[in-house]
Amino acid sequence: MTSASAAPWSRLRLRQTAHVRDLCAETVFTAAHFIQPFFVVEGLTGTEPIAGLGDDNARLDEAAMLKVIEADLKAGVRHFLMFAVPAEKRSHGLTFEHAARPVRAIKKAFGDQLHLWVDICLCASTDHGHCAIVDRRGDIDLPPTLDALTQYAVAVADAGADGVSPSDMMDGRVGAIRHGLDAAGHARVPIMSYSTKFASKFYGPFRNAADSSPKSGDRRHYQIDVRARTDAMASSVRCAEEGADLLMVKPGMTSIDLIEPIKAATGKLVGAYQVSGEYASLVLLAREGLADFDAALLETWHVFRRAGAAYIITYGARRARSLGFGA
Ligand code: PBG
Repeated sequence: MTSASAAPWSRLRLRQTAHVRDLCAETVFTAAHFIQPFFVVEGLTGTEPIAGLGDDNARLDEAAMLKVIEADLKAGVRHFLMFAVPAEKRSHGLTFEHAARPVRAIKKAFGDQLHLWVDICLCASTDHGHCAIVDRRGDIDLPPTLDALTQYAVAVADAGADGVSPSDMMDGRVGAIRHGLDAAGHARVPIMSYSTKFASKFYGPFRNAADSSPKSGDRRHYQIDVRARTDAMASSVRCAEEGADLLMVKPGMTSIDLIEPIKAATGKLVGAYQVSGEYASLVLLAREGLADFDAALLETWHVFRRAGAAYIITYGARRARSLGFGA
C-alpha cells in the first residue's frame, strides 16, 4: 500500500513554481538580522586586501573605515562588528585607545543610524598572539586577563559603542565585563557573547586581517574541542548565567546543530558567525568557476535561519539587501 505522503507528486507538487516555493518558505529575514564585521588598523595608511575575503573586505585606516560604513549604511546595513588592531603589541599593560578612537569617530559621523558592536579580545594586542595575559611559563593568567577584557569593554563603551562582544573564551569574562560596564554607568550596553566558540581551522583569513595568530602553539587550551558537545552546551549556559544578552555559535556552518539546543537550554537568542574561512571557501569556489557566489552565500544564510539562528554575522552582510532582504 502506498501512503498519501509517499504518493507520486506528493512532495514535488509544492516545489514546482517560484510562487508556490515562496509561499512555503519558512526562513524569513531582513537586513536587520545581519551584522557586518570590519577591521580598523592603527598606523595603516589607506587599505590593505585580506586574502580570501573578496574585494569588498579589507584592512582599513580610519578614513577608509568611515567611507566603507557610509556605503554600507546606504546598502541597508544596520549592525556592525568592529575589530580594532593596535600598532604596537605588548605582553602586559595593554591599552585600548586604538579601539576607542574609531568608535568615537563612527558615532560622531553616524550616531544612531547604526548599532556598533565591538569585538573584545586580546589576541590582536598581545605580542604572543594569545587571547589572554600569560604568566612566565606561558599559561593563562586569568585575573589580569579578566581585568584587561573589562577595561577594553569599558573603554569602548565610554567612547560610545552600542554593544560589546567578547570572543576570548576565558571563564568568567562575561560576568566580569557585565560588572565593569554596570559600575561605569553602562548598564544598558548589551553583551553579545561568542558563547560556543570552537577551536577551528576556519579562522585563517581573519587571523591575517587582525594580525592575531598565536606565535606558538594554538588555542585549544581555551577554545572548545569540536568533539565536546557537553562543553559546547555548558559554555553557552555559563555565558547566559553570567549575563550575556545574546549568544552565538562559531564557526556558524559547522555548529548549526547546537543553535536550537542552546536556545532551549538558555531561553536566549542564538546567532551564528559565518567565519572568515567559511566565507573564503565560497569566494574560492566562485573564483574557480565552481559556484555562483551570491547564490551560494544565500543558500548558507537560509540554512542558518532554518537552523534557528536569530542573527547572522557574515562578511557578506552588505550584500543582504541586494540579495532581496529589505531594511
Ligand atoms: C578573536 C577572534 C577570532 C575570530 C573572531 N574573534 C579568531 C580566533 O579566535 O582566533 C574569528 C572570526 C573569523 O574567522 O571570521 N579571538
